[in-house]
Amino acid sequence: LRLAVLISGSGSNLQALIDASQQADSPFEIAVVISNRADAFGLERAQRAGIATQVLSHRDFDSRTAYDTALAELLRAADPELIALAGFMRILTPGFVEQWQGRLLNIHPSLLPRYRGLHTHQRVLEAGDPVHGATVHFVTAELDGGPAIVQARVPVLADDEPDQLAARVLEQEHRIYPLAVRWFAEDRLVLSSDGRTQLDGEP
Ligand code: GRF
Repeated sequence: LRLAVLISGSGSNLQALIDASQQADSPFEIAVVISNRADAFGLERAQRAGIATQVLSHRDFDSRTAYDTALAELLRAADPELIALAGFMRILTPGFVEQWQGRLLNIHPSLLPRYRGLHTHQRVLEAGDPVHGATVHFVTAELDGGPAIVQARVPVLADDEPDQLAARVLEQEHRIYPLAVRWFAEDRLVLSSDGRTQLDGEP
């Protein structure tokens, strides 16, 4: 399976996907990494692994629609079967999402449906939640609202700072994102026509 990964920053989730794709029995390969920021460290990770990279800066476009049209064109050239958003800090237009419906995944640092949006670790600490985590989900037009595929939980410790909590969650992200991509590549995972996650077999 040909995977495209979209990033904006450090790309540690991209790294986890690269590592998984390099295992001998991997059912997927990364065809392209696209970043909306030229300074994203993830681009270096990709280059180091010999993966093609593209930068598509949002600053070069007047509207979200224009950006997403250009993004779709880049993607079509790489011809991926699945797209993974990995710290891609852009909201995609419904038109774009629709085009890739069922073939577009995201990882979000919370136990969705709780804490959609930004600053999840801070908000979990403020709420005093004892448990936090991460979710891989199919992307739909509703921001962080698509059906979940796999979640991982971590404890929130008494004296946690947002950064410590984020690191604990991130470690789990690196475990579950490659898992979900592998399931998809093995044809065990689909978004059903009624908008639900369908996963065959036990993980
Ligand atoms: C991750 O926490 C991801 O869940 C969130 O942004 C962060 C990206 O980290 N959407 P990285 O770029 O993969 O290191």
